[in-house]
Amino acid sequence: MLHFIDGLANQAHPRDELIEGLLKPAAQISPKFFYDDLGSRLFDAITELPEYYPTRTEAAIYRQEARSMAQMLPRQPIVLDLGAGNCSKGEALFEWLKPAAYVAVDISLGHLKPNLTALHSRHPQLPKLGWGLDFSKPFNLDAGVQDWLTRHQLEGHPWMVFYPGSSIGNFSPTDALNLLERIRHLCTSNSHQGPIHSQKGGGLLIGVDNVKPLAVLESAYNDALGVTAAFNRNLLLHVNRLLGSDFDLDGWAHFAKFDEAHARIEMHLESLVPQTVRWSGGSRHFVKHERIHTENSYKWTPEAFVDLLQSTGFSAPMRWTDPQHWFNVYWAPC
Ligand SMILES: C[S@@+](CC[C@H](N)C(=O)[O-])C[C@H]1O[C@@H](n2cnc3c(N)ncnc32)[C@H](O)[C@@H]1O
Repeated sequence: MLHFIDGLANQAHPRDELIEGLLKPAAQISPKFFYDDLGSRLFDAITELPEYYPTRTEAAIYRQEARSMAQMLPRQPIVLDLGAGNCSKGEALFEWLKPAAYVAVDISLGHLKPNLTALHSRHPQLPKLGWGLDFSKPFNLDAGVQDWLTRHQLEGHPWMVFYPGSSIGNFSPTDALNLLERIRHLCTSNSHQGPIHSQKGGGLLIGVDNVKPLAVLESAYNDALGVTAAFNRNLLLHVNRLLGSDFDLDGWAHFAKFDEAHARIEMHLESLVPQTVRWSGGSRHFVKHERIHTENSYKWTPEAFVDLLQSTGFSAPMRWTDPQHWFNVYWAPC
């Protein structure tokens, strides 16, 4: 009932992507590189910080609105949890959603494995697949996933793609559009035949952070304890392992700020001294105060996000929010 597939082994090694980002005039490293084992645990710690409102606000929406969501969502779906992390948000839906199966996708397979194994001991009857994958690149349900679906007689069950945590905010509007198109294609792919073909079809349940007062936004990414700073700087240790580079942590400081023009939090690492970072076959010099852009976290108003969903072909979504309207959860049928 519990199975793992390492799809990362079939994807290109990130070396070229990292070098390309480091050599840009304004250096950048994708936020997906935050998530080695330690980075994933640091993210879990961030979700417990008083300043970090998104996780607890979103989780409360699922608790408060479970009855209303249960009426809208398909029965016995295959839940595909994109960026499942510690799987806690996915598990919180099980009681009322009654999924037929749970597929947890994450780039941080070393973190996913123990968490999905622990979840398995609490829900031993539910078929579960842990799928290591970088979904920022085009992906398909590969042969291993198809075999697993067949073995568990899951053909015909609707896909419910679950994408919480406002992780869609890490993508630029253009990249978000491309990812949503891929998701829509995926959730239309398993509903053509099978035992429960006639019931409600699949779709996307997605959690998205809203624009809100500047002080609330900026303190969520500049916590007093410095956990977000450690999370940001740990990325350099991960890059050192992936690239064989020699980033020295002492030379880099965390920086996070809201950019109103783009409605996004930006995270950077700022060089504290002039320094040259080397890796096999290349190097990059950084002057004092030069920054590496490590994350965007776009905040979407409901109007703009509904437009984005509909422009990728999803049907008119249902929306739930919290009393302060800080966070929105959308159900978009595909
Ligand atoms: C912000 S955390 C959200 C975790 C959890 N879903 C939540 O809402 O609390 C992002 C998660 O997505 C995973 N992730 C980030 N980029 C990814 C990518 N390109 N492909 C697969 N997983 C990714 C990370 O490892 C992490 O578990």
